[in-house]
Amino acid sequence: MIMSRPLIIAPSVLAADFGNLDADIARAVSSGADWLHIDIMDGHFVPNISFGPAICKTIYRKAGKIPLDVHLMIERPDKYLKAFADAGAWEIIIHLEAKDDVAATLKKIRGMGLKAGLAINPGTPVEPAFPFFPEIDLFLCMTVNPGFGGQSFMSEVMDKVKKARMHADQQGLELNIEVDGGINQETAVTATRAGANVLVAGTSLFSQKDMREAVSRMREECAP
Ligand code: DX5
Ligand code: ZN
Repeated sequence: MIMSRPLIIAPSVLAADFGNLDADIARAVSSGADWLHIDIMDGHFVPNISFGPAICKTIYRKAGKIPLDVHLMIERPDKYLKAFADAGAWEIIIHLEAKDDVAATLKKIRGMGLKAGLAINPGTPVEPAFPFFPEIDLFLCMTVNPGFGGQSFMSEVMDKVKKARMHADQQGLELNIEVDGGINQETAVTATRAGANVLVAGTSLFSQKDMREAVSRMREECAP
């Protein structure tokens, strides 16, 4: 399948060393990555709690111009949109499985001048997301069950990535399609071949001594 969008590499800050957050943000920013991915977990939508808007703002201040791709794994995203917009989000991703009205929440995100993203879990079919495609800038197919970093990539999700890319192409939509979870040098290639163009990678990038080399290798390996 031909990629219709530029490749974006987004290190997931969840895998950073929070005792050395400044240094790890600086490392990610100077790695040549395109965006930073920020994982927000509320202990309800997923069985884990990460951090909130205050830490997001700290990351924003350290990150400079690099866009923050804020992934809300929270039950009621609607309540927190303003907090994350104020904390420097460039894009906000909500889940189709969350409890708020999806269309209204996406509209609010765009209304705040931000990019809007919609995510689905591995167990959720892709078709129910199609009606929202004209209202979003990015579609995220989770490649692990959300909640934790360091899990293994679920290759069966690639069928949904292919269907999503095909549907977006048929509709003439220049949609970013993101994969998140278990992305490393090898699975990045699998995902881009299926039609993804945004790669979120936490453990596989932050664990490298030379993140710059790892990012440029990933870019080369995924080149069409
Ligand atoms: C999982 C998060 C991911 C996670 C990815 O719930 O949404 O963004 O940080 O981590 P790795 O790349 O380690 O699987
Ligand atoms: Zn994420």
